[in-house]
Amino acid sequence: MLLEVSDLNAGYGDVQVLKSVSVNVREGEVVAIFGSNGSGKSTFLKVLAGLLKPWGGTIRFRGRNVEDLPPEERVRMGMALAAEGRRLFLGMSVEENLMMGSWTDRGRVKENLERVYTYFPELYEKRKDLAGDLSGGQQQMLSIGRALMSNPVLLMIDELSLGLAPAVVSRLAEILLRIREEEGISMIVVEQEVSLALEISDRAYVFDLGEVVDEGRSEDLLRRDSIKKTYLSVL
Ligand SMILES: Nc1ncnc2c1ncn2[C@@H]1O[C@H](COP(=O)(O)OP(=O)(O)O)[C@@H](O)[C@H]1O
Ligand SMILES: [Mg+2]
Repeated sequence: MLLEVSDLNAGYGDVQVLKSVSVNVREGEVVAIFGSNGSGKSTFLKVLAGLLKPWGGTIRFRGRNVEDLPPEERVRMGMALAAEGRRLFLGMSVEENLMMGSWTDRGRVKENLERVYTYFPELYEKRKDLAGDLSGGQQQMLSIGRALMSNPVLLMIDELSLGLAPAVVSRLAEILLRIREEEGISMIVVEQEVSLALEISDRAYVFDLGEVVDEGRSEDLLRRDSIKKTYLSVL
């Protein structure tokens, strides 16, 4: 198992958000997380990345407990987060943004840049442009590209499709599947569009009010009536 999260509790101040959340990711697996707004998906990724301290529970990554490690140590171990809202340096160029993602692996900057540009040729075209001048889709590519610059073994993407046109989203999905195929990188994809989430993933977890309320193989969830009714608006 690449990632084993057990009984995770977390919140803000004294307000509890995550309630005994357990999630596993196997080597090479794409795991989707979906659930309504405010159900704790981003909070979960923040705790995994080390940006928010959990109240309790364990996070085992590559056989090591990481819940007390600082974020940069987790990046070094191979976790990378493409955060919600993309968190780019809008006044810096595309290439400078990508370089910011490579601080753990300075020796391989050039190689990694080439690798990211191979997946996202439009970022190469725009490498000297300001990140703030990119379209929404290109900004999402930059956010994912920057995460790839640290050579992750687990790529976590918060809100893959938010605000993007369907054609852009299907390209992004194709590229992610290609990255997985070529490099065997595991992924956690948080995605509101449930049909998309289930199409691109091997397994999925459904969050509701900070709890895991359902989980299973994505192809099984796609066929499940309760999922269809609640999340796919199919009657
Ligand atoms: N920085 C924060 N401070 C206080 N409460 C927060 C903060 N971020 C999120 N929350 C609350 O935590 C809950 C879960 O939010 P979030 O993890 O962002 O959900 P999701 O990503 O599933 O939409 C929500 O009730 C939200 O209002
Ligand atoms: Mg969120």
